[in-house]
Amino acid sequence: MKRTNGTLTDEGWRIVLIDDEEGIRRVTRITLEDAGYNVYTAENGERGLALCNEAAPQIVITDVRMPGMDGIAVLEQIKQTHPETEVIVATAFGEMDLAIRALQLDASDFITKPLHSEALTIALERAKTRYNGRKQLKDYTIFLEREVEYQARILHQDKMLSLGRLAASVVHEINNPLAGILNYCRLMIKILERGEASADQPGKFMRYLDLVEKETSRCSQIVSSLLTFSRKSPAAFGPVVITDLVQRSVLLCRHKLELSNIRLEKAIESDLPEIRSDYNQLQQCLINLVFNAADAMPDGGTLTLSALRSPSSPDICLRVTDTGIGIAAKDLPHIFEPFFTTKDEGYGVGLGLSTVYGIIQNHQGSVQVESEVGKGTTFSLCLPIP
Ligand SMILES: Nc1ncnc2c1ncn2[C@@H]1O[C@H](COP(=O)(O)OP(=O)(O)OP(=O)(O)O)[C@@H](O)[C@H]1O
Ligand SMILES: [Mg+2]
Repeated sequence: MKRTNGTLTDEGWRIVLIDDEEGIRRVTRITLEDAGYNVYTAENGERGLALCNEAAPQIVITDVRMPGMDGIAVLEQIKQTHPETEVIVATAFGEMDLAIRALQLDASDFITKPLHSEALTIALERAKTRYNGRKQLKDYTIFLEREVEYQARILHQDKMLSLGRLAASVVHEINNPLAGILNYCRLMIKILERGEASADQPGKFMRYLDLVEKETSRCSQIVSSLLTFSRKSPAAFGPVVITDLVQRSVLLCRHKLELSNIRLEKAIESDLPEIRSDYNQLQQCLINLVFNAADAMPDGGTLTLSALRSPSSPDICLRVTDTGIGIAAKDLPHIFEPFFTTKDEGYGVGLGLSTVYGIIQNHQGSVQVESEVGKGTTFSLCLPIP
């Protein structure tokens, strides 16, 4: 049965041993094979490098002084082509400068010749620990990269869902002022066609045009808010004025609230400092919370949006409070999990709160929730002031 060493158990540890002295190769090979390693030997640097490509060893032991390519050059080459491979160099007694050079080039260790099996065992154990440590770090880095990718995908997916809902709401929001604009324009055309020139006509026209201007600029604000929201932009932190953020978010959700007969109240503390955050992402959070609140009040109620300095920390808190159905105690621990939803199919995907959580974490902030069944729910997003 093949013996295994360290934590590498699938195919065992492979060692390439490079030394120009035949006797040393033979004796060391026997010692290493006896300890359970798979050993490949080479008599010079070039052959050793070729063996590394073939056998993909985790560890290389190389003599420093060899005719042709020396051990330092072998080490440099290996670190370039197989940086994860651990290299132990063997130096003659007194060649401290070469040993130091090897360590500077990221050799895992050096041993002095003649090779003693004890020193070899210690150097190999150290090399294996280093190899496993690096491998774990690499695996963890890959895991983290995948996780970041996953989070970004979820964020985008949630945004597209919100965008679909917002678009429906915004179309209604724009339709009303457009109808008003059309009416005033038609009225002015009719008056002009009739050719009546009454004394109060310029004043009347001024009032109509004033209304047309106001309504047009409202439409334009709504459209630009939706466009900003829909843009797929990388996280961009900058100063954010809370009142502006709340105003623009409300503008996009108002129709949905009106439809459900929900009264909107705002309580924004005066003189709040700017916060440093990603405007677009914070807007996504507020819109998600407002949509959830609206869903929780199908028969109407009150939605309160507040912004205040936290009483207990140097944070600014944004709060979304509803007077809706509340969250059952058994659901509370799960609401931030991706794809957790209590809504009927076609109504909720379960991405809203997990997105909010991810975004606020990314802002070094915290999310809190208080809820009472039948009374209502408050979500607080607390963000640090820069
Ligand atoms: N204000 C609230 N009142 C009552 N329950 C809520 C409230 N906000 C969230 N929930 C509960 O938390 C669950 C998860 O919310 P989340 O926003 O993550 O998903 P969703 O609203 O179901 O679907 P999505 O947001 O993806 O459309 C909801 O299904 C609901 O049960
Ligand atoms: Mg939701």
